[in-house]
Amino acid sequence: MFTIDLNGTIYHTEEDKNLLDFLRDELHVTSLKNGCSEGACGACTVLVDGKAMRACLLTVSRARGRKIMTVEGLSDREKEAYAWAFAEAGAVQCGYCTPGMIISAKALLDNHLHPTEEKIKEGIRGNICRCTGYVKIRQAISLAARVLRGEVGVEPSSGGGIGSSLTRVDAAEKALGRSQYVDDMHIEGMLYGAVLRAKYPRALLKSIDVSAASVYPGVETVLTAGDVPGDRYWGFISRDWPVLVAAGEETRYVGDAVALVAARSRKIAREALGLIAADYEVLEPVIRTAFALSDDAPKIHPKGNLLSTTRISRGDAMEALAKSAWSIAGRYTTPPTEHAFMEPESALAVPGEDGILTVYVGSQSVYEDRAGIVSILGLPPQKVRVVGRQVGGAFGGKEDLSVQHHAALLAMRTGKPVKLTLTRSESILVHPKRHAMEIDLTTACDKGGKLTAVIAKITADTGAYASLGGPVLERACTHVAGPYHVPNADITGWAVYTNNPPAGAFRGFGVPQVCFACETNMDLLAEKMGISPWEIRYRNGLEPGLAMATGQVAAPDTAFKETLLAVKEVYRRIDSAVSPVP
Ligand code: FES
Ligand code: FES
Repeated sequence: MFTIDLNGTIYHTEEDKNLLDFLRDELHVTSLKNGCSEGACGACTVLVDGKAMRACLLTVSRARGRKIMTVEGLSDREKEAYAWAFAEAGAVQCGYCTPGMIISAKALLDNHLHPTEEKIKEGIRGNICRCTGYVKIRQAISLAARVLRGEVGVEPSSGGGIGSSLTRVDAAEKALGRSQYVDDMHIEGMLYGAVLRAKYPRALLKSIDVSAASVYPGVETVLTAGDVPGDRYWGFISRDWPVLVAAGEETRYVGDAVALVAARSRKIAREALGLIAADYEVLEPVIRTAFALSDDAPKIHPKGNLLSTTRISRGDAMEALAKSAWSIAGRYTTPPTEHAFMEPESALAVPGEDGILTVYVGSQSVYEDRAGIVSILGLPPQKVRVVGRQVGGAFGGKEDLSVQHHAALLAMRTGKPVKLTLTRSESILVHPKRHAMEIDLTTACDKGGKLTAVIAKITADTGAYASLGGPVLERACTHVAGPYHVPNADITGWAVYTNNPPAGAFRGFGVPQVCFACETNMDLLAEKMGISPWEIRYRNGLEPGLAMATGQVAAPDTAFKETLLAVKEVYRRIDSAVSPVP
């Protein structure tokens, strides 16, 4: 028997287990979040005898006899001070990190009520925030300290209006851990889902045997490709992504789903995955776009390895280049990037007595989710309701179906609520990334530094599935010449399938990669000419009536040059060593 003192209340449990699982799953403490399960993110921070510690690294036996505190246990004054300060400073966005951040702040302020900036930094060094950045969080902690010292009072929000700040309406709820993310939801008797993933980026799935897993005590169902009642392929635009890979098919990346389990506990569901026998013939994966486009490459999809091509041609770029006074030709490569949102994907599917399946998600588009789920389940749209819960960060990484459809399938088959939450490592394995790109870019100008031509070839690695690869490539091609007046352009882009993780939406949607190439070329061109980086941008910046590389004419409210003028002094300071700004 273990005795736990949580926020002044005593709880008992027979079994020694992970402290975070105990607090979340059995005591339903929702302020604690499970962002990683391995001590990396700080979302599960608790006070243990006054010291900030990560609950995911503790066990019930190690916490026995010690005083555990979460934000639910703060005094009313502390709750008011922290919630107000975090809202007032704009330190709460998705809110997933905030309760853990506040516990670390309390550990600090309980001992240093006049903390220096350095002390605050040190106090939250174990807490990651992926939305807000740390400046506002540090300001919030400073402000909370002032409230707790009695120097400022908690003021009501201004109510908004032009010229005044408006705090987020949900900031306090998030700060105090009362906002509900899907994994915080609990329905008595619900089942837990787990997914068997492909072991190999490219392999022929020869057979799959789920008989042992199906009879494992506590398992309610095991599903494979043959159990999908509707369309087995889905996709945001191209329906190229299998809900479950079937025997006789090739896997396309390591995150492919092969079998689904629903069981009475998360532990049983994961143990059952180990009992599924999947037999593979391992094949050489296609990991380079150049090889993927060659005649020797195996076809990853029936239509081949080219997802889409984007072409922009304006004027005669080659002739303009030949007549140009200056030019820069650069080759740029950018890697895939992980969104690392703090909340791993989670869905809870609940069959209703009215015959409607309700799916709770924290995704970016409940309507797209529903469209995908109804086609996979083979149901009319009115039989599925998708309800958005708080989203603990997404940044483009929660556009595609990841857990929603699998939870829905398991709930439909069992007739019971099923929650499916990815671990951090599964999350990284499964969802699309920012596209890796290879960009060959030539930028040319005349003697006066006016751009004459841009020539670009962009290859985007869209990985195993299309996701939003086509539109991302289009955006990359339309932005590779930058916010400049370019009279001649020759731009071609290719989105290419490989056996790498899929790539899709991510903040900037294809633009950050090409901005890197475009702006580097502009710097190099300025250097070659002997003018400042600011000057070359000012000479070429779009203004109302001028056309960009695509031929799109800048609207009357375009204020790029005004923006450049506003930052001229900053440029002057940074680039004074290169050339003074005239
Ligand atoms: S540090 Fe415990 S969940 Fe991330
Ligand atoms: S507000 Fe910190 S992770 Fe979203």
